[in-house]
Amino acid sequence: MEYANKAITAVGRLWRTNIMRFGVYEKVVPVETSPSRIVPASIIRPDYVLKTTEYVPKLAEIKDDTQISGMRNSCKLAASILNQLHAYIKPGVTTDDIDELVHSLTIKAGAYPSPLHYKGFPKSVCTSVNNVAVHGIPDLRPLQDGDIINVDITVFFKQYHGDCSKTFLIGNVDDKGQHLVHITEECLDIGIKCCGPDVPFCNIGAVINRHAKRNGLTVLPAFLGHGIGQYFHGPPEIYHTLNRYPGLMKPGMTFTIEPVLSHGSEHTVILEDGWTVVTEDGARTAQVEHTVLITDDGAEILTK
Ligand code: MF3
Ligand code: CO
Ligand code: CO
Repeated sequence: MEYANKAITAVGRLWRTNIMRFGVYEKVVPVETSPSRIVPASIIRPDYVLKTTEYVPKLAEIKDDTQISGMRNSCKLAASILNQLHAYIKPGVTTDDIDELVHSLTIKAGAYPSPLHYKGFPKSVCTSVNNVAVHGIPDLRPLQDGDIINVDITVFFKQYHGDCSKTFLIGNVDDKGQHLVHITEECLDIGIKCCGPDVPFCNIGAVINRHAKRNGLTVLPAFLGHGIGQYFHGPPEIYHTLNRYPGLMKPGMTFTIEPVLSHGSEHTVILEDGWTVVTEDGARTAQVEHTVLITDDGAEILTK
């Protein structure tokens, strides 16, 4: 009896401590979802949907004008779909409703939603709420006042992928949640601003990590940006923490920057569905992502 009391007090103390450290929000667990959505046969699929693998270059690719214009078009479409979600995302809307909207906007534009059947992912977009760090599978949980949700959209349009994400605030989010999202956005801005010809890829992680740390937040090291083009994920790897990844940026390269930040530790766990990644300590995370093009004098955001 005495032991049980002590245990309850210990749990109570831990819970209060975590509320003080991490703020006020619901810890999310995956629930039931709807079947995968259908893409009309007329829409061209990426290689990995039919063949399970895709061609990926060995080295960071320097794109020619045709490839750059392909990237501009796909990135513009991804960004425009993401921007159309603002009016729609509110309490009561489920993440599966978001999947339905992203899916229909994508196929209406004649594009394929890149996540769908990518290495077995079952939905057309990733939706990661509160303590879900990345790769949340849209399901029937309605969004609640106070949630933060990352929506990560990738489209395959006329043979090129465009990839971007942002973290939306649902209703009244506590100060800690707002701060987390705000600093994460600043980290992406700072990461993009440091890019340009002959800049080492590893500088991105250094500047992002410094900004997060100064603001009391942790960058999750497991999640990397990536080269992108006619392939979804390819070289270079873009670290968001201190790293020694070799190589320099060159005009014509396109890659994503997509830092994930948390109030807590850097550790994450993959759930039994094989996709959903949650923080081990239950802290919330925020993520934002752009696809950028290295130009002659800096970097251009293609997913603006
Ligand atoms: N869009 C994610 C990224 O930024 C990748 C999602 S893969 C999926 O790289 F299969 F989960 F969709
Ligand atoms: Co993405
Ligand atoms: Co990406």
